[in-house]
Amino acid sequence: MRIDILTIFPEMFEGPFDHSIIKRAKQKNIVEINIHNIRNFATNKHKNVDDYPFGGDAGMVMMIEPIALCIEKLKSEREYDEVIYLSPDGILLDQNIANNCSLYNNIIVLCGHYKGIDERIREHFITKEISIGDYVLSGGELAAAVFCDSIIRLIPGVLNDETSALSDSFQDNLLSPPVYTRPADFRGWKVPEVLLSGNEKLIKQWQMDKSLERTKGRRPGLLNENTVL
Ligand code: ADE
Repeated sequence: MRIDILTIFPEMFEGPFDHSIIKRAKQKNIVEINIHNIRNFATNKHKNVDDYPFGGDAGMVMMIEPIALCIEKLKSEREYDEVIYLSPDGILLDQNIANNCSLYNNIIVLCGHYKGIDERIREHFITKEISIGDYVLSGGELAAAVFCDSIIRLIPGVLNDETSALSDSFQDNLLSPPVYTRPADFRGWKVPEVLLSGNEKLIKQWQMDKSLERTKGRRPGLLNENTVL
């Protein structure tokens, strides 16, 4: 998968993709992430990327031209599955959407700022809008990092058997069961006996029971008719 991220704060991506699973996915050439500074496409003397809104509201709006030029350049080089805009107005990201988006080959991800982007970018270039939650962030960069992480880890070959996404919370509409590691007894706080029993069938059953219990207690809305009780 190739991801082209358009931002006015490229430095914000110096951390999230340079560690752990995403770093390894890049090293294995399973994903290529390119960060583009929208300011490099500004055509005016001062390299402005934002301007006052028509109609006189407070706040600044990201200008159409630099973003249009950047998207058009990328699109002239290859085909894209989607041009995605991270916005609180978008469809709410969940595991199902992440699963679907993990199948793309090439995507453009646009990070907004200020009061938003000139509406004509949405009308003429954006094919999908995604929100990572019902709250407002200062900009789209953190949302883009969350979205990219959620899809990259699902690409075959990124996770190994041990870290397989199949056992993730939400993958079957259930939260994950509790997990423990050594020591089996810390100040008298003991790991559940069944996990030390070596009986795989009993362990699986215990994990399923705990998953259901946790989901019912914390996120009952996730449970639907398809859940095997
Ligand atoms: N930009 C600002 N807030 C956002 C959110 N909740 N999701 C996606 N992009 C955003």
